[in-house]
Amino acid sequence: MTKQIILDVDTGIDDALAITYAAHSPELNLLGITTTFGNTYVDVAARNTLNLLHLLGKDDVPVYKGMSQMLNGDDHHQPATWIHGENGVGNVDMPESPKQPEAIPAHEFIISTVREYPNEVTIITMANHSNLARAIKQDPEIASLIDEVILMGGAVTTEGNITAHAEANIYNDSEAAQFTMQSGVSMTLIGLDVTRKTLLDKATIDTWVENGSPLAEALAGMCQFYMEAYEKEEPILKGCPLHDPLTIGVAVEPSLVETKQMNVNVVTDGEANGQTVGTEDENGNVKVALEVDAEKFVAHFANRILG
Ligand code: RIB
Ligand code: CA
Repeated sequence: MTKQIILDVDTGIDDALAITYAAHSPELNLLGITTTFGNTYVDVAARNTLNLLHLLGKDDVPVYKGMSQMLNGDDHHQPATWIHGENGVGNVDMPESPKQPEAIPAHEFIISTVREYPNEVTIITMANHSNLARAIKQDPEIASLIDEVILMGGAVTTEGNITAHAEANIYNDSEAAQFTMQSGVSMTLIGLDVTRKTLLDKATIDTWVENGSPLAEALAGMCQFYMEAYEKEEPILKGCPLHDPLTIGVAVEPSLVETKQMNVNVVTDGEANGQTVGTEDENGNVKVALEVDAEKFVAHFANRILG
């Protein structure tokens, strides 16, 4: 059965890979994409998303902008230009989409779509949780009407990437993440525990360069930037992690990861701000992915990415 999907993104190089992978996965029906800050600004993330959808021939997928502030009204942190470039997509210029973001804000789109398809919508978040938290805050009942949230974020059994304690998506709005995790929504956490094991190698990027289609060239340009950034930031990995694409892999094929039910809380201040603290608990609030069949996932991703 086709899954009804909303993607929540901060496009972002690995977000761009994930959107492309989702667009090329017939098991998923993209109802819309909501954007937020993180890798870049909300407006830039929306523009990057629209331009990518144009390149994919998917102008029919609507894009909704979120707010520029965290859930508590604070300004957001600086964009992660050292990983994603000044424009969020490795300084690659994609052809300009003629489309604009939709008029209603991201959280209202989430509410109306979940209400339209009760118990059917999977929300895949690849960025901070401010859009989802605002939606659940405004309409708490939707927490029980969302089929599942699959989130890229957190580091439950391993160290962080933005600080020693925190993964970037959770750190970018830790109060929002703590709010959504305690909201009662069904959640699967795909964190650095597994995404650091899913690596894109240079040989695959080279095949995209050889392919030469406008999409292949754009993705190759982004990933060359991403690869160089990871060589500087996390040289131990020897490749660039497919953080966001793994959420799509799991939506298509949940058995790619092994999960444990845990009780997860997010630290919302101090030095450990954004840390995801998990303890095993069969009645816990989150299914945490702890193992991944990386070889199978990366092969699936590579087979689908260019369509
Ligand atoms: O920590 C990795 C995550 O942060 C990914 O979603 C990446 O795109 C950034 O948002
Ligand atoms: Ca992201």
